Amino acid sequence: MGYKVVVCGATGNVGREMLNILAERQFPVDEITALASRRSLGTDVSFGDKTLKTKDLETFDFTGWDIAFFAIGSDATKKYAPIAAKAGCIVIDNSSLYRYDADVPLVVPEVNPEAVDGYAKKNIIANPNCSTAQMVVALKPLHDRARIKRVVVSTYQSVSGTGKEAIDELWDQTKGMYVPGQEREPKVYTKQIAFNVIPHIDVFMDSGETKEEWKMVAETKKIVDPMIKVTATCVRVPVFVGHSEAINIEFEDFLDEDEARDILRQAPGVLVVDKREDGGYVTPVECVGDFATFVSRIRQDSTIDNGLNIWVVSDNLRKGAALNAVQIAETLVERVLKKR
Ligand SMILES: NC(=O)c1ccc[n+]([C@@H]2O[C@H](COP(=O)([O-])OP(=O)(O)OC[C@H]3O[C@@H](n4cnc5c(N)ncnc54)[C@H](OP(=O)(O)O)[C@@H]3O)[C@@H](O)[C@H]2O)c1
Repeated sequence: MGYKVVVCGATGNVGREMLNILAERQFPVDEITALASRRSLGTDVSFGDKTLKTKDLETFDFTGWDIAFFAIGSDATKKYAPIAAKAGCIVIDNSSLYRYDADVPLVVPEVNPEAVDGYAKKNIIANPNCSTAQMVVALKPLHDRARIKRVVVSTYQSVSGTGKEAIDELWDQTKGMYVPGQEREPKVYTKQIAFNVIPHIDVFMDSGETKEEWKMVAETKKIVDPMIKVTATCVRVPVFVGHSEAINIEFEDFLDEDEARDILRQAPGVLVVDKREDGGYVTPVECVGDFATFVSRIRQDSTIDNGLNIWVVSDNLRKGAALNAVQIAETLVERVLKKR
């Protein structure tokens, strides 16, 4: 038995990747519909070897549909997700709108699959921020062994995390550096992104941190453990796809780097690539299109009692968004829908 599935935002980076992953993982689909704004009416999108014609979300009736993946940004989600949920369709949302709502589970299936069971309060499940998702996949197995007290993370986030216009801006600006007359001023970003790095993702908050940094703190607490202290610096870098993170972890108990490496090797969703030699680590270009969260550079931090440093890389459009959302749907099927 399969399910009737809707993908909202099917013409976007995350939506297209969702269609790919649903097909790749052979999610049990009886019927599938691709939705976007009226601008994209009739646009072709791929689902495995099939082509779907995009329909208009505004006029779509969700009655009788089982699962709707939303990847359309918070404003449009605010308008349409309650309509889908009210019609009895379970919403799996990629925007930040519902992530901090106590009545909405925030789920990374390798970390807190049981949270899915709480979906029924609003008929909505939230997908975390891309930087949080890959970080908690690596943190959870270490936390289970040695209790994490504090995390200091610096991110190196690709432009695909901002959306399709940002990908064009990096591409055009890079070309414009070499072709006279084709220079392109920053529009999506506040400063030049080509050959530069920008320590600013999402809006500034009163505390001085950015909303992206705040999200990593709040979401790690909700998904893994409210006792973990997190401080983050989020940076946009001129990479098309793949987020990287340098993470410093302080534990309650001592955890030896070799044991940490073994724990991570066994951990669901993690692939350890950690050779102390040239190229013995993973960089963003190598993680594109992959399902795994890669962990490299695992080493003791000798400046504190129980400290470890790790380097974590993953495809932000996959584990950071589309893959995690599809894994949530798979978890929902196993834990809830199959038992109905
Ligand atoms: N990219 C990431 O790494 C990442 C990670 C986690 C979460 N997210 C979240 O996922 C969502 C989508 O991101 P993205 O990177 O895929 O963005 P994107 O490439 O800019 O695509 C946006 C999609 O939303 C559709 N859309 C926008 N406004 C709409 C409206 N009013 N009605 C119907 N459809 C509308 C667009 O349709 P048209 O083509 O018709 O305009 C397009 O399909 C955002 O909430 C983002 O925060 C992204």
